[in-house]
Amino acid sequence: MLEISQLHVAYGHAHVIHGIDLVVKPGEMVFIVGRNGAGKSTLLKTIAGLIKPASGGIRFEGRSVVGEAPEKLARSGFRFVAQDKKVFSNLSVRANIALAAHGSGTPVEQAWSKAVQLYPKLDEFRELPAGRLSGGQREILLIGRALTGTPRLLLIDEPTEGLAAIVIEDIFRILNGMRHTLSFIIVEQNLSVVTRLADRIYVMKEGQIIREITHRGELTDTAQLEAYL
Ligand SMILES: Nc1ncnc2c1ncn2[C@@H]1O[C@H](COP(=O)(O)OP(=O)(O)OP(=O)(O)O)[C@@H](O)[C@H]1O
Ligand SMILES: [Mg+2]
Repeated sequence: MLEISQLHVAYGHAHVIHGIDLVVKPGEMVFIVGRNGAGKSTLLKTIAGLIKPASGGIRFEGRSVVGEAPEKLARSGFRFVAQDKKVFSNLSVRANIALAAHGSGTPVEQAWSKAVQLYPKLDEFRELPAGRLSGGQREILLIGRALTGTPRLLLIDEPTEGLAAIVIEDIFRILNGMRHTLSFIIVEQNLSVVTRLADRIYVMKEGQIIREITHRGELTDTAQLEAYL
């Protein structure tokens, strides 16, 4: 459903992504791992349309989408959850979802029930300013928000970063529950999460993919992955 070929991305003169090829098949959960500064966030932002690549192709369901604006990609079903876990802090949890619903022309009630289905506790927090949520709850709210409308490809940048072990398990269960319902590219450093969920893993280093893992036995080999991090 997504096909990236020979992607190059630069910030001014700083060349950060050096010719990446990557595919996501329908319903697949693809993970990207790699050290700090490898270019993982840059890659996700480029796919989401927030950064224009210097060159290379991005095809979504056979159609070239390279250079398309984020709003247009969102209408095609692209959803991006950024690494910074930023919510509208002063707005209530429900208003955060409502805003996304308005943006995509979705009935608020429908968007809200999808989010609550994901994590029933959100209903207890519905009137709470979103800034008062814990990091994990904020991440869940952002994932819930990304499900508004008709998502096809969910791009999530480090969903478990900085979270306590017990909350990481909540995130794991949520991701696991969504498996196969849409396609995913997830940047993740927690190898226990990666190896329990991945259909395919790409290892990034210095702006390149240095390894693609698709073989079942290798997908669960935490020790092998550790060597790359
Ligand atoms: N806005 C920017 N302007 C210039 N350089 C940037 C910008 N954002 C990132 N970079 C540089 O691009 C490289 C890749 O950064 P990126 O954030 O994509 O890495 P990452 O793999 O997501 O790292 P981390 O694991 O720390 O999140 C780094 O050298 C970084 O300093
Ligand atoms: Mg990053």
